[in-house]
Amino acid sequence: MAVITNIEDLHRLYRRRVPKMFYDYCQSGSWTEQTFRENTSDFAQLRLRQRVAVDMSGRSTESTMIGQKVTMPVALAPVGSTGMQCADGEIKAARAARDFGVPFTLSTMSINSIEDIAEATNAPFWFQLYTMRDTDFTSRLIERARAAQCSALVITLDLQILGQRHKDLKNGLSAPPKISARLIYDLATKWRWSMGMAGAKRRHFGNIVGHVDSVSDLADLGAWTAEQFDPTLDWTKVARLMEQWGGKVILKGILDVEDAKKAVELGADAIVVSNHGGRQQDGALSSIRALPAIIDAVGDKVEVHLDSGIRSGQDVLKALAMGARGTMIGRSFIYGLGAMGEDGVTKALELIQRELDLSMAFSGKRRVTDLTRADLLIPEGFEGRWQA
Ligand code: GLV
Repeated sequence: MAVITNIEDLHRLYRRRVPKMFYDYCQSGSWTEQTFRENTSDFAQLRLRQRVAVDMSGRSTESTMIGQKVTMPVALAPVGSTGMQCADGEIKAARAARDFGVPFTLSTMSINSIEDIAEATNAPFWFQLYTMRDTDFTSRLIERARAAQCSALVITLDLQILGQRHKDLKNGLSAPPKISARLIYDLATKWRWSMGMAGAKRRHFGNIVGHVDSVSDLADLGAWTAEQFDPTLDWTKVARLMEQWGGKVILKGILDVEDAKKAVELGADAIVVSNHGGRQQDGALSSIRALPAIIDAVGDKVEVHLDSGIRSGQDVLKALAMGARGTMIGRSFIYGLGAMGEDGVTKALELIQRELDLSMAFSGKRRVTDLTRADLLIPEGFEGRWQA
């Protein structure tokens, strides 16, 4: 096998090894995919200063996220259907994160269940909550996360309804996939995936199936969200969920300064500046462009994390230098998982850490916690000039 030196290598391998339906699910943004594209191209607009003749020994990427020590401030983001990218995908990703020393976040719409992860890892993880119309079910999810000793609840605020991703509709996305001539043809070259799936612990949404009734199609994420997700979720309800949980809370999906202020008012431990990987509001700003204004408004009151667009340690460095305390990666670890299972997730984390460490050294810094905006070259007008 060719030597893997960057996340794009994992992406190429992933594309070859995973059924098209799940590759497309991961690799899509909504509608025109403008925001999805700009999440990465806007990172490329930021440049880095190069500083020399600085003692670069004894460097460290260590930091903390919501008070937890991390090997580097990069958490695995919640990704729906991860266990369709690779058999027992959530268990494998959680183990890789535990061994590397970064947080793993389990999605409500995961294949492996909350209990599967608790049993397989014996390590605290974060649980991402989608709120359902069935409030008893939402309460039970919170209690299950508590029983599993999850160390934070990540409440997603930007997906009460699902953005339209053309490819998923055209592919008839479902978990597990429905048998068709197209699928059988596709699987002919994806034997590794098929063999793994044949022995997988689960092939359905593990937090859901067997825990709720009255859904028309248990395998269809689109039908699920339309029928089950609570479209009335508002700040009052968010406050109630936070109270019910009582532990650390991360509010994810914030892109606007007003919403960031509201999250601070509610007492969130952290917010995640995110546009859901460009999968929801197409035309929204990229996360890295939205970040500076949010840091300036609330950065001294709440820990700010960023996701959407991180494909390298240099991107992590740019987010941290801009003022984020931490980051989350979704696609970057899914590429590794689909390419090489647990080892691929570890590989993705190693690649990112190495890039982060080297770039930090070239910036003349020895600790990620010492990075500041002065380490960046930010183009004039980077945040955009929009009419009031
Ligand atoms: C779910 O979170 C999705 O973006 O598909």
